[in-house]
Amino acid sequence: MTEKIVRAHTNIALIKYWGKRDEALILPASSSLSLTLDAFYTDTSVTFDNSLQSDTFYLNDRLQNKTATEKVSTFLNLFRKPAGISSPALIKSTNFVPTAAGLASSASGMAALAGAANLACHLQLTQRELSLYARRGSGSATRSIYGGFVEWQMGTCAADSYAVPIDDADWDIGMLVVVVNSRKKEMSSREGMKNTVETSPFYTGWLDSTANDLIEIKKAIRLQDFQKMGEITESNGMKMHGTMLGANPPLSYWEPDSVVAMQLVRQLRQEGISCYFTMDAGPNVKVLCRLTDSEKIKARFAKQFNPEQLIIAKPGEGLKVLTK
Ligand code: ADP
Ligand code: DP6
Ligand code: CO
Repeated sequence: MTEKIVRAHTNIALIKYWGKRDEALILPASSSLSLTLDAFYTDTSVTFDNSLQSDTFYLNDRLQNKTATEKVSTFLNLFRKPAGISSPALIKSTNFVPTAAGLASSASGMAALAGAANLACHLQLTQRELSLYARRGSGSATRSIYGGFVEWQMGTCAADSYAVPIDDADWDIGMLVVVVNSRKKEMSSREGMKNTVETSPFYTGWLDSTANDLIEIKKAIRLQDFQKMGEITESNGMKMHGTMLGANPPLSYWEPDSVVAMQLVRQLRQEGISCYFTMDAGPNVKVLCRLTDSEKIKARFAKQFNPEQLIIAKPGEGLKVLTK
């Protein structure tokens, strides 16, 4: 039997998703916009097998514990139900991205799992439906169904909160990913955003301004105005981190080297190299740049970071099926 593997790439938000209006359905408090990256991805297969006692989940060739498996099972049940399937599944997944380190493994992980579940259940879902399903696994996964620049529209209900591709990003765009620390973070994105929504007085300020950032960045993308796009990206990311600083207890994912990387981006700009940073729920820094400038920027970072910490990513493609 040929094993069908589905690959999904990670995506990095330029306009962040940070906070849910419905936790069970994963409905976001605001719309967001991302760039899918070619350098980081997840490969996943799902096979139903009645000889298994229960769902069995291997991540990076390691059998996962009950909690991790239950999360995957709950997600798979969303597909089993309409397909009328009750068999246990063998789930095998490989992350070509550090897991739970702020490099968006939940985005590629849950998008790949949605794609693999769709194949295993023969549901023949459209990309839009896959985006809706992926959302239930992790909000950021909603966007990883598509390549290039992608908008996750917050929608009005569970049925219309999905992603749409807005531009293939095939125009001298790249990202230097500075891996400050690839260890598992202490506070998941899910918990971090929940605490922020519940306790940060800055959260309303975030909501008041992020919708306009989205409008402006979409304009900049349409005009291929890199500088404008970068300025909005950097500012939106910093505002998100500002909401976390205002949470109780305060939350910060930054490490000293995150600040070193941000300073270097500012320095490079002063020297006339157009580049902008963004950070997610983790210490790693992503530098949005012209692909044609990426080697030069990487060389500058190499004076302060080890080569294995510096990864140039190009715009990546959407969900695809590989056959082993
Ligand atoms: P990240 O910054 O890596 O997205 P999160 O805290 O958002 O970190 O999510 C990490 C969680 O995503 C993991 O604990 C796991 O539940 C899920 N995840 C990561 N990779 C996979 C995968 N390949 N398959 C299924 N779930 C995954
Ligand atoms: C900072 O999608 O990982 O990366 O929906 O709870 O699984 P859950 O959270 P997740 O949050 C991503 C937060 C972010 C910003 C973004 O990707 O938009
Ligand atoms: Co995540």
